[in-house]
Amino acid sequence: MTERFVVVGAGTMGLGIAYVAAGAGYGVELVEVDRARGAAALERLAQLWDRAVQRGKLTAEQAATNRERVTLRAGLAEVAGAPDVIVEAVPERLDLKRAVLADAEALRPALLGSNTSSIPITDLARDLARPERFCGLHFFNPVWAMTLLEIVVGPATAPETTDAAVALAGRLGKDPVVVRDMPGFATSRLGVTLGLEAIRMLADGVASPADIDKSMVLGYRHPIGPLELTDLVGLDVRLDIARTLQAAYGDRFAPPPLLIELVAAGRLGKKSGQGFYRWTDGVRSGGTELPGPDGSESATGAAG
Ligand SMILES: NC(=O)c1ccc[n+]([C@@H]2O[C@H](COP(=O)([O-])OP(=O)(O)OC[C@H]3O[C@@H](n4cnc5c(N)ncnc54)[C@H](O)[C@@H]3O)[C@@H](O)[C@H]2O)c1
Repeated sequence: MTERFVVVGAGTMGLGIAYVAAGAGYGVELVEVDRARGAAALERLAQLWDRAVQRGKLTAEQAATNRERVTLRAGLAEVAGAPDVIVEAVPERLDLKRAVLADAEALRPALLGSNTSSIPITDLARDLARPERFCGLHFFNPVWAMTLLEIVVGPATAPETTDAAVALAGRLGKDPVVVRDMPGFATSRLGVTLGLEAIRMLADGVASPADIDKSMVLGYRHPIGPLELTDLVGLDVRLDIARTLQAAYGDRFAPPPLLIELVAAGRLGKKSGQGFYRWTDGVRSGGTELPGPDGSESATGAAG
């Protein structure tokens, strides 16, 4: 029988997790409450499979099989009980995630995971009846290209659950690290530090976005600069994470005012077409104007 993998939330991460799970042979149920986002996710998945065929990574038949393995659901109420895996990938807000995890747990999955980037697993598990089956399954963006899976283990997580998560990583073609439950884990705590400092430097007028990014790429051999990475992650997602880390570690993680302003202006990065750069059809097309101190636009963006 086909094993069942439920993904809750069909945003940037949920659709990526659905893509790799379908590729690993799971029957995937992609749960999305926003009808338009659900439709957009299916469209994006179809594009990804078309591209994989064009690049010779999959045959047309394999791509069609993977596509057929994904079913969209409008809510967890539409999902039958006892799936093999449920991973939640809803926005990074404690109350929302706890509510979703409680509904997910009621379906009695063998393994329950959260794709949280920063919220302690212990906080998410507080109301769970079986926290021993729960752990963090932190995938990276874009999920089909990034091999790391950060498995976050709380005090209540059973060793069998950690083993199951490590086995899942192997099946999905991911390379796992197992980390102790602390806000921001191993990855976000370091990555967000760099991203927030780059935004403060931009606000201070140290250099253009492109030159700040180039400094890290050429000077430190980072594959991508911290501002472009923030555009890919989503400025709103980074803001949520910064607030979580600020609550845990203090003001060294306070979100810079510029980040708050850009999110309020709807400049969320690649997904909205504009962040620190402009994005056209998913491709970076140049620097953008930053809001001036009075909310007017001032030309501090960068070319390229
Ligand atoms: N974006 C990244 O690069 C990245 C990387 C690693 C981890 N994460 C984490 O993954 C999670 C999701 O991030 P994202 O960038 O995909 O967010 P997103 O905003 O792109 O997608 C979240 C989706 O969840 C849906 N949703 C909200 N409530 C729901 C519910 N009750 N049931 C079903 N769907 C619901 C929303 O409509 C939206 O489509 C967050 O915890 C984030 O911190 C994000």
